[in-house]
Amino acid sequence: MLLGKVISIVALSAALLDGSMDVAMPDKNIDGRVFLVNRQHALSQYYAPIDLRKTEVYGMSQSMRDEAATALESLFAAAKEAGVPLSSVSGYRSYSKQATIYQRKVANTGSEKEADRLVARAGTSEHQLGLAMDVARKGTSSLNSGFAKTKEGQWVYQNAHRFGFIVRYPEGYEDITGYDYEPWHIRYVGVEYATAIFNSGVPMETYMSGHRLEIYDFLIHQVTNEVLP
Ligand code: DAL
Ligand code: ZN
Repeated sequence: MLLGKVISIVALSAALLDGSMDVAMPDKNIDGRVFLVNRQHALSQYYAPIDLRKTEVYGMSQSMRDEAATALESLFAAAKEAGVPLSSVSGYRSYSKQATIYQRKVANTGSEKEADRLVARAGTSEHQLGLAMDVARKGTSSLNSGFAKTKEGQWVYQNAHRFGFIVRYPEGYEDITGYDYEPWHIRYVGVEYATAIFNSGVPMETYMSGHRLEIYDFLIHQVTNEVLP
């Protein structure tokens, strides 16, 4: 009996550490809201979300997953109400579209090193998840760090979490996220996580590794409490 518990602890630890446990947590699986995508956690070229739809907001015609699209529509309505109307610029991007954008950036900047700070390689972009949108001031489509200083950009920074979005590549954390500051790129994770990440002041990578340890602690407690009543 005791041996069985010890084996479950070891198996659980291994699953949590290698990430496969995430599959058992709806929010953290690939079709969930908090699936982490970055250079270390890439998507297959075959992954495309099944519930994409056009976002009904001002701007370029773009798609997102249904729940994220609804949240974006609320965010845009609130921004307009607050006197800071926005435009959508880029939402869902397929693996091949991302490959094209990356290659174009390499050509424009003249180096992969430069391009890597600005655009994700195919398979490593959150845009492929259908949970990210690039936003700009209404009537514009340029994406640059100057957005952070506009009243629209400041509103997005302060309020996106209320609608379930985070500014995914914050200033000062380039070493962790791997990208330059992108005040225009918002990622849907749901209101609960967005609020927690916003309040934590750290990027999603840091938040998720801390969160995984919390879950780990909790599960270990559950099992050890059974072993040692
Ligand atoms: N610009 C972000 C990192 C992307 O290409 O997904
Ligand atoms: Zn983006």
